[in-house]
Amino acid sequence: MTIDSFRPVNPHRRLLIAAGAIGTMAASGAASAQGSVPDIKGRLPQALARDEAHWNQVGALFPADRGIVNFENGYFGMMGRPVAQAYQRNIDLVNQRASFYVRTQYDAGGAARIRDRVAQEVGAAPEEIALTRGATEALQNLITNYNRLKAGDVAMYADLDYDSMQYAMQYLKERRGAEVVKIALPEPASHQGLIDAYAKALDQYPKTRLLLLTHISHRTGLVVPVAEIARMARARGVDVIVDAAHSWGQIEFKVTDLEVDFVGFNLHKWIGAPLGVGFMYIRKDRLSDVSRAFEDGDFPASDVRSRVHTGTTNIANVMTVPDALDLHRAIGAPAKEARLRYLRDMWVQQTRELPNLQVLTPDDPRLHAGITSIRLKGKTTRDDNLKLAARLRDEFGLFTVRRGGVAAGDCVRVSPALFTTAEDVTRLVHALRIIAA
Ligand SMILES: Cc1ncc(COP(=O)(O)O)c(C=O)c1O
Repeated sequence: MTIDSFRPVNPHRRLLIAAGAIGTMAASGAASAQGSVPDIKGRLPQALARDEAHWNQVGALFPADRGIVNFENGYFGMMGRPVAQAYQRNIDLVNQRASFYVRTQYDAGGAARIRDRVAQEVGAAPEEIALTRGATEALQNLITNYNRLKAGDVAMYADLDYDSMQYAMQYLKERRGAEVVKIALPEPASHQGLIDAYAKALDQYPKTRLLLLTHISHRTGLVVPVAEIARMARARGVDVIVDAAHSWGQIEFKVTDLEVDFVGFNLHKWIGAPLGVGFMYIRKDRLSDVSRAFEDGDFPASDVRSRVHTGTTNIANVMTVPDALDLHRAIGAPAKEARLRYLRDMWVQQTRELPNLQVLTPDDPRLHAGITSIRLKGKTTRDDNLKLAARLRDEFGLFTVRRGGVAAGDCVRVSPALFTTAEDVTRLVHALRIIAA
């Protein structure tokens, strides 16, 4: 963001000028001591995806510790160096200029400009976006303050949804007197199978009025056909809240593509902003269907920002969001998506047929992106999968994570990053061949 409008005559001017560079650097090359974003002009994402030299250059923009091969990048996204540097500058700026800066700059327009930028990037109007500390804060407010549920209405979610969103849905029993229904998604999943599973559940529970959908599952990486299911839900008078914590940034889309009215997003996963920032989306004409957070009075009820009340937060990380978006765009959102898919397909193609391995995530490109989960055949317990992750880590130097909560059993999630190399993938394939022989 630029703060050019503020030109104080004081000894801190230099610091302000430094801060003025925030959010303006990466799109034109993100130059840093450790490298720059290679030019992608005119190159097709699918061709770029397999160009190791290109991704080595991109990878050098990330300060990844190579002591272990990190295949657990779904937890949160590593900041690229230009982003980390901007974040450090922003921490210093907020710390040195303190309330004076925050009241005269950030509160007086800086925060609004960041919201404008996020809205523009995701294809929303600024009045539809409120910044939050992450997807959790966004979705907890959306779910628990959705005010159209009456006692006896059904609120529905699935086994693959995120735990804390499941808790928030369960809370609707106490808060709204709703009947809360949990369904299990099919495994293996198919595009039509998923649509059919939701259709069957909605038919079985005709009183359903609220449905939670997770765009990309953190458990298995499954991409749910949100728009198709949302259309079907709308025809039955069901509102849909989408958990897009893992999708935007990993895959490229505009919020309107989802065809839903309420969405929670993260910026600190696949967009690569500092930890602690996300946002909620409420379609303009649906604002009144989500009540204000704790009767918020800081903003009028007609302002979406009254739907979340964070309190004093980490301003420096919010200030760094434009830098993260700049780097995301400079690397290229479609190129990023193509690379993550390419890395995923590379290891899955070589391991899917291993006799003792189950790859949970389908190969249909509509149903996955970069994340995929596995388990050894018949090994469905928490312990089984903790052991599998431990073997990968201790015997092969590959860091992954066990994920539970899948109706058919626990699994191990593999999530690559932009600094993952073809050689890292080869190591994973080698390890799985030995383990699942
Ligand atoms: C699908 C999904 N939803 C929501 C969240 C919550 O995100 P956060 O903890 O960043 O608020 C996560 C985090 O991993 C997630 O994977």
